[in-house]
Amino acid sequence: MINFVTTNPGKVAEAREYLGEPVEQFEFDYPERQATDLATVAAHGARAAYRHVGEPVIVDDSGLTIDALGGFPGPYSSYVEDKLGIERVWELARAEDDQSGAFRAVMAYCDGESFEATPEPVDTDRRGQDIAADERGEATTDEQVDDEAIPVRLFEGVAPGTIVAPRGDGGFGFDPIFEYDGQTYAEMSTEEKNAISHRGRALAKFAEWYGSADR
Ligand code: IMP
Repeated sequence: MINFVTTNPGKVAEAREYLGEPVEQFEFDYPERQATDLATVAAHGARAAYRHVGEPVIVDDSGLTIDALGGFPGPYSSYVEDKLGIERVWELARAEDDQSGAFRAVMAYCDGESFEATPEPVDTDRRGQDIAADERGEATTDEQVDDEAIPVRLFEGVAPGTIVAPRGDGGFGFDPIFEYDGQTYAEMSTEEKNAISHRGRALAKFAEWYGSADR
């Protein structure tokens, strides 16, 4: 059983649909680190969630990026959805020459154990100077190897698309203004969305690794 730590039931519904494994929603609003990349936010969140739950956890940090707006709202998607609303984000995109964008998701898994080396990145939240010290063959202090170093495995998924006027009433968040291959996310069933979405792609990588013998 995997605990999906989130306050967003939409994310859990998609993970349940995708993973053969039972997925429980664990409602815990872990403190989000402010950072401009999703991986850092997700890794930090997974560690905080694991410390709180004490069992294997996954968290997801995801967001919409609009090319002509320099990747806005990106890691601030939830905040922008709340403060501006999706209609106003569409108005911002509409004023640009190009409405290309993408949805990105980083799924972060933590069970307190270290992992075998694989191509997927592992975030150990080590600061640059610790790594430099290691490379010079110097020992790191106990303080540096505190529980901040709990490894977290990251799985990233990206779906390219176009920002459009709102259509459809399924899904959540920015689904009505994100079009992929002629349909908005909000016009798709959960199954259709999972087959092509950023979260579906990240979950596919996670499922493949989670089900593999060498994890
Ligand atoms: P997070 O909870 O910090 O990862 O914020 C994710 C935010 O990105 C959500 O609140 C939505 O605004 C947006 N978002 C992420 N994934 C999706 C999706 O699949 N559909 C629509 N909006 C999404």
